[in-house]
Amino acid sequence: MRIGQPTNSERYGSNLFYSVQKVYELDGGLEVDKEFSSPFHVIRQMPMSALSEIEKNMAIIIPIKDERLRLLEGVLCGIPNACFPIILSNSQRSPSDRFVMECSLLDNFCHAAKKKYVIFHQRSPELAQMFRAGGYEHLLDDEGLVRNGKAEGMISGILIAKLLGKKYVGFIDSDNYFPGAVLEYVRLFSSGFAQAKTDYSMVRVQWNSKPKVVDNDLFFARFGRVSRITNQFLNQWLGLLSGFETDILLTGNAGEHAMSMDLAMLMDYSAGFSVETHHFVNLLENFGGALPAPFPEVMSHGVEVFQIQSRNPHLHDFSKGDDHLAEMIEGSLSVIYHSEICPQSLKNHILEELRQHKILKKKEIPAKPRLYPSLKGMDFRAAGKKADWNKHGNFEGTL
Ligand code: GDD
Repeated sequence: MRIGQPTNSERYGSNLFYSVQKVYELDGGLEVDKEFSSPFHVIRQMPMSALSEIEKNMAIIIPIKDERLRLLEGVLCGIPNACFPIILSNSQRSPSDRFVMECSLLDNFCHAAKKKYVIFHQRSPELAQMFRAGGYEHLLDDEGLVRNGKAEGMISGILIAKLLGKKYVGFIDSDNYFPGAVLEYVRLFSSGFAQAKTDYSMVRVQWNSKPKVVDNDLFFARFGRVSRITNQFLNQWLGLLSGFETDILLTGNAGEHAMSMDLAMLMDYSAGFSVETHHFVNLLENFGGALPAPFPEVMSHGVEVFQIQSRNPHLHDFSKGDDHLAEMIEGSLSVIYHSEICPQSLKNHILEELRQHKILKKKEIPAKPRLYPSLKGMDFRAAGKKADWNKHGNFEGTL
C-alpha cells in the first residue's frame, strides 16, 4: 500500500485521532522503498512484506445472520491467506438449518484453500460455556446463551481470537458483494497497524462510496444516512470537549474496523448496532482524562485511531429497510447521549434530532444501551479449556 500521511490530527487526553488517509496505490511494492524514508515525504509506503507479517497475527471476525451463502463465500475469498477467519453465526437453525449450510461451505472452502478457520453459532451452549468458565457472564441471557446481536457476535469473536493468540482483530461484514473490497479492507487494517507507534491502536475504514441506482443511473454516494448523522454528533462532541470545533471523525459507524488485541481487551462494548459508535465513546471516557483513568498504564503510551478511505466502492445487501436505519441512528446517538461526559447542550441536540426523525416522541429520551465491560478480567485459560476446537473448525493438526 502507498497511503497519504494524515494531514491533520486531534488529541483528546491520550487519544490521537488522525484525519482520513487516502490510498495512492493498493500494492505498494514487496520490500521497503528507500525513496519513502524521509519524514517529509507526504506518502507512506507499507511494503507487502510488513503487511504480511501483521496479517499472520490477525484474525478476521465475520458476523453473519442469514446472509446469502454466495456472499459469505466471496468474503472468505477476499481474506488474505495469512489471516485467520473466525465466523460468528446467528443464522436460523430451523426449519432449514442455515448454520449447517454455512459450516459445510466453510469446510469445503477452507479445505480447498488449505486454510484454518473457526466457526461458532452464537447461541451454542459451547460458546456460552466458554464465557461462563472464564467468569464473564455479562453476555449471557436468561437461557444461559450468548445474547442475540451483532456486537455480541463480535465480542465472542474477540474471545476466540484471544484464545488463538492473535495480536490483531479485524471485523468484516458477511454481506459484501465484492471480494476485492474485502481484500482491500484487510490491507487497510494492516497498513494502519504498520503505522502505529503504540500497542493500543484502532483502524477504521471510511468507504469510498456506496453505489446506488438513482434515476436509472449509477450514483456513488459518499456517506450513508446513518453515518452522516453519527459523524456530525461525534465531531460536535469532540469539539465541545476539547474547546475546538472539528470535523476529523468520519468513521462513526465503521462496520469494517480493526483493533490491536491489547486495545480490544480494554474496551467496553455496547450492544447491537451501536457498537462502532460506542468505540469512540469508550475511548473518550477511558483515555480522555475527564474521568478517572481505568488503565493508567495506557495513558502514557497513548491510543491511536487511524481512519483510511478505501478505493473500492462498498456494495452490500441494502434491503434491510427504514426501521433498521432508525434503530441504528437511535443506537448510535443513544451511546453518546448516555455518556457521563456528554454535555447537556449536546444531549438537547440529540433529542431534537431523534424527534425530527420521529424516532422519539416528545418527552421521550433514548433507551439506555446495554453495556458489556471489558474482557480484561476474564480467565482465558479456563475459557480455553472448554473449547473443543476440532468440533468448530479446521485445524489439520494443532492450532
Ligand atoms: N453474529 C451475528 N449476530 N451477526 C449478525 C447479527 C447477529 O445477531 N445481526 C447481523 N449480523 C451480521 C449480518 O449478517 C452482517 O454480516 C453484519 O452483521 C452487519 O449487519 P447488517 O444488518 O447487514 O448491518 P448494516 O449493513 O445495516 O450495517 C452495517 O454497516 C454499518 C455502517 O454503515 C453494520 O456493520 C453496522 O454495524 C455498521 O454501523
